[in-house]
Amino acid sequence: MADGITISFAPVGRGGSGDLVVFAGDDLVLGSAAREVLGSAGADLIARAAPGEKFKGRSLSALVLPAPAGVDADRLVVVGVGSEKDRAKLEWPVLGGFTAGKVSGRPARVVLDWPGAAVTPENAADFALGARLRAYSFDRYKTKKKPDADDAGTTALTLMLAGHAQAEQAAAAAAAVAEGVTLARDLINEPPNVLTPEEFARRAAALTRLGVEVEVLEPARMRELGMGALLAVAQGSAREPRVVVMRWNGGPAGEAPVAFIGKGVVFDSGGVSIKSAGGMEDMKGDMGGAAAVVGTLHALAARKARVNAVGAIGIVENMPDGAAFRPSDIVTSMSGQTIEVINTDAEGRLVLADVLWHVQGACKPKLMIDLATLTGAIIVALGQDIAGLFSNDDDLAGKLHATGELVGERVWRMPLIPAYDKAIDSKFADMKNTGGRHGGAATAAAFIKRHVNDVPWAHLDIAGVGMSSTASEINRSWGAGWGVRLLDRLVRDHYEAR
Ligand code: BES
Ligand code: MN
Ligand code: ZN
Repeated sequence: MADGITISFAPVGRGGSGDLVVFAGDDLVLGSAAREVLGSAGADLIARAAPGEKFKGRSLSALVLPAPAGVDADRLVVVGVGSEKDRAKLEWPVLGGFTAGKVSGRPARVVLDWPGAAVTPENAADFALGARLRAYSFDRYKTKKKPDADDAGTTALTLMLAGHAQAEQAAAAAAAVAEGVTLARDLINEPPNVLTPEEFARRAAALTRLGVEVEVLEPARMRELGMGALLAVAQGSAREPRVVVMRWNGGPAGEAPVAFIGKGVVFDSGGVSIKSAGGMEDMKGDMGGAAAVVGTLHALAARKARVNAVGAIGIVENMPDGAAFRPSDIVTSMSGQTIEVINTDAEGRLVLADVLWHVQGACKPKLMIDLATLTGAIIVALGQDIAGLFSNDDDLAGKLHATGELVGERVWRMPLIPAYDKAIDSKFADMKNTGGRHGGAATAAAFIKRHVNDVPWAHLDIAGVGMSSTASEINRSWGAGWGVRLLDRLVRDHYEAR
């Protein structure tokens, strides 16, 4: 099991120990710094060994050799970065993740240079971010560690490049983002007997250490505020709900904040409309939206982002018991609107409705983005690699889409048309909490929209990306912490004061 990672920066030099990593393009072309560090013996060894190992320098392939005499290293690791065209598409975090995977558990010096192009400090920081994310594993509950496992030990990377001082500076911000993603992953992976709503709130409250103002609302206060929808979901659980409002004031005093709102269902049994047993254990991840919000606030505060940002999460457990809410109940949300409960498993929208309403009134945000593992339907529509985006604002939607492409946390815009809104009209109340089988993700979004005023708003349905994630170069964990890098970068590129 990996024991984590340390990353430092240095000028390019020949002396050292551990593994030595260089990059090679198609036809094994090396950058000038790599040629210098390797000397003729190194370059010669690569040229002779590559054909037998079928190594052609293809993007994200690797050749591992014992280092030749004259090269100060144990192993020589050659990482392929492909043709010029491949290199233009190669994402730096992905390359960092791939490389960290190749030298996992070992000390390694990485010659960060590139055949035919300069590596910027920004590139180096992104590389470091990917390496950090790759090194994450959630092994808190494994009592038997395997000392001889491939990746046992700490990965210790020294990134060697010309602009190492500037790279180090850029990497400090990237490390803050990595911490935010790590925090989100820990929260998602944690089991619900440990991560109760109360415990979740405690962990969010730890952000005060970074200068975040944290307000925790308990049930009595929620009742005063009229959060009847959220409280209905919580009432079947032995564990009290919490609402946590986090404020990071890094921007100009008095400027309206950007607000992020997360669904935090620590376990979703479905309630009285109980889910089937198969796969129900995955529903510990039904708080992935809230985890992303806490992780984002951590990242913003840790890198002292010049922005005013609010994070608000509704944390509940959805359980069936004698006190549980039931299909046919009618509840009143904080907005004053009444909701007929058709299915207690459509609980996330009830939680979001009250938290969104509270944020609009209490924080007067300039925009709101909510994240929620809201519907199985979005997984049917888009799969596990892209999140559904619903928005009342083309500008915000465009920014989210572009940022998603940039960081590799992609979103796809879905429609919000009156037909979806009509589908949630109720016979008995102002609305009902499901809109039937068709367009399940869209009718859920329409429900949320009924709790949003004029403020620009986007809803990210992250049921597919927020949990049981597919392994990638930058993630080996069940919980990927999806959304932290997206929101952090959105802020950095569009909402930070210069
Ligand atoms: N948390 C689930 C959605 C979900 C499903 C997330 C699978 C991740 C993986 C949500 O609360 C839910 O149960 N939604 C229902 C809504 C339905 C009852 C209208 C669904 O999608 O089936
Ligand atoms: Mn549910
Ligand atoms: Zn749910």
